[in-house]
Amino acid sequence: MSTLLLAQDIGHSFDYELFSNINFELQSGESVAILGRSGSGKSTLLHIFSSFTKPNFGNVELLSNTLYSLSTQEMEMIRRHDIGIVFQSHYLFKGMKAFDNIEIASLLSNQNIDKSLLKALQIEETMEQRIGELSGGQQQRVSIARVLSKKPKIIFADEPTGNLDKETARLVMNVLLKYTKEHNSALLLVTHDEEMAKMCEKKYLLEDKKLTQF
Ligand SMILES: Nc1ncnc2c1ncn2[C@@H]1O[C@H](COP(=O)(O)OP(=O)(O)O)[C@@H](O)[C@H]1O
Ligand SMILES: [Mg+2]
Repeated sequence: MSTLLLAQDIGHSFDYELFSNINFELQSGESVAILGRSGSGKSTLLHIFSSFTKPNFGNVELLSNTLYSLSTQEMEMIRRHDIGIVFQSHYLFKGMKAFDNIEIASLLSNQNIDKSLLKALQIEETMEQRIGELSGGQQQRVSIARVLSKKPKIIFADEPTGNLDKETARLVMNVLLKYTKEHNSALLLVTHDEEMAKMCEKKYLLEDKKLTQF
């Protein structure tokens, strides 16, 4: 086991203080959920951990790098090769075929597309269709296949199952968890959905500006 992410004494405010003195660690092979109500600051915390928001206070070590002292190019390399980000709303090229969307990501990171992944996500049949022709839930699964095709060392997932029915949500979570185990990667899920959080090995609650394991 190795430490992939170490965050110390993180604090951040926008119009008011969102949280302070947050300490968090993510080890290889682990799946961890951060549960919290809407507006509690989950997405902000995930952005801080994943290189997109520099916190007002504290230090983030990501894959043995002091994240917010890296150059733009170094950060870009980590984003491209080492981390995978799954959002609730997906960023796909709408006019392109589903397959081409996944291929771009795998080409950029020099990885092969894992066909068994498409099968597990139940999207093999959609590969020749354009993104605009797919349902929201199918698009979400294409975006997850796209992220996993990069073979990331850490997956950051922000409400990844928010737009999915329960059965599909569970299927997607199982794919993410299986990937994490098989690649000795790590999954950090932020969600308001207790049922999804329960599927992870460790659970934290973000509440009253504090992060507590429960
Ligand atoms: N870039 C930003 N600028 C100003 N306020 C923001 C920004 N991002 C988030 N906020 C505010 O921070 C609070 C927490 O947001 P967020 O982290 O998205 O919470 P959650 O994901 O738990 O719903 C909200 O009140 C939101 O309006
Ligand atoms: Mg959010």
